[in-house]
Amino acid sequence: MSAPVLQVRNLCVHYETDAGPVKAAENVTFDLARSERMGLVGESGSGKSTTVLALLRMVTPPGRIRGGQVLLDGADLMALSPEQMRRMRGSAISLIPQAAMNSLNPVMRVRDHFYDTILAHDRTMSRAQLAAHTGELVEAVGLRPNVLRMYPHELSGGMKQRVCIAMGICLRPKVIIADEPTSALDVVVQRQVMETLGRIQRQLEASIILVGHDMGLMAQFVDKIGIMYAGRLVELGPVTEVFGLPLHPYTRLLINTLPSLDAKAVFKGIPGQTPSLLNAPAGCAFHERCPDAVGDCWKAQHVLTEVLPGRWVACPCHAGAAA
Ligand SMILES: Nc1ncnc2c1ncn2[C@@H]1O[C@H](COP(=O)(O)OP(=O)(O)O)[C@@H](O)[C@H]1O
Ligand SMILES: [Mg+2]
Repeated sequence: MSAPVLQVRNLCVHYETDAGPVKAAENVTFDLARSERMGLVGESGSGKSTTVLALLRMVTPPGRIRGGQVLLDGADLMALSPEQMRRMRGSAISLIPQAAMNSLNPVMRVRDHFYDTILAHDRTMSRAQLAAHTGELVEAVGLRPNVLRMYPHELSGGMKQRVCIAMGICLRPKVIIADEPTSALDVVVQRQVMETLGRIQRQLEASIILVGHDMGLMAQFVDKIGIMYAGRLVELGPVTEVFGLPLHPYTRLLINTLPSLDAKAVFKGIPGQTPSLLNAPAGCAFHERCPDAVGDCWKAQHVLTEVLPGRWVACPCHAGAAA
């Protein structure tokens, strides 16, 4: 097997608030293989967006990356100068941010969004080359060339999201990160947009991290899934294995809330509330909601541990079930 394209090691991100640090990502560790599709799921507020922003060093104050490594093809992104990092964004690793379509500039034509992004990385492109490349991009995401002359308000939600996907791939990145790319769309459009994203990812032979909370969609789209709870990865493994035998009690509850794998389902029906990330309780963050919690879970923070090759869980109570 070739080396992973992305290696994330002990990534920690805190928001320094007046009330104290909000520990939004703690010791996040995972690998992303070449051409792999990885899902990152978790309830709202579990630290998914913070984690993916940190991968591109795009966390803004009061957020701060407190530690960890992000290796892209072996090079530590945390060690790059701001200018070197800026050049990586979009061309090596790109983010389609949460609510991306709302960030399109209302007074700019679609075409100029592409031109700005491309020219910021390659000033040598001629007008004709730009036009040809942008034409290919919109075609690749299933849009007609006339959208290039339009303003964002003239597009439907699905069209805007396709524009954002095309922007995310316009520099042919090795790693595409899509933060809830379809959560604002209705189910039919969602499916079309996911098919488009999947097709493009294959064409580029890129790897992808898909952030979301829809377990049904994840089951259909990704090869590997990471489950986040209260700023930490609590389980990570091949999607078929995780769905077939979830090891962490939280993962099990999430999967049990699904009517069936191919039905659209969002988290609901897990009793209790997510803990505060500000003054996190001692021990495992899930212990108050966990049906299986034992004495130690109140005291010790469980570390994400590889229990079988490629199969990680942060729950000693159930690690043995993998064997
Ligand atoms: N600018 C901010 N200041 C303070 N806390 C923040 C800020 N942005 C996010 N957070 C907190 O960080 C945690 C993780 O948020 P986020 O990464 O957006 O989670 P998710 O994407 O899983 O919904 C949440 O508790 C959220 O309230
Ligand atoms: Mg988010």
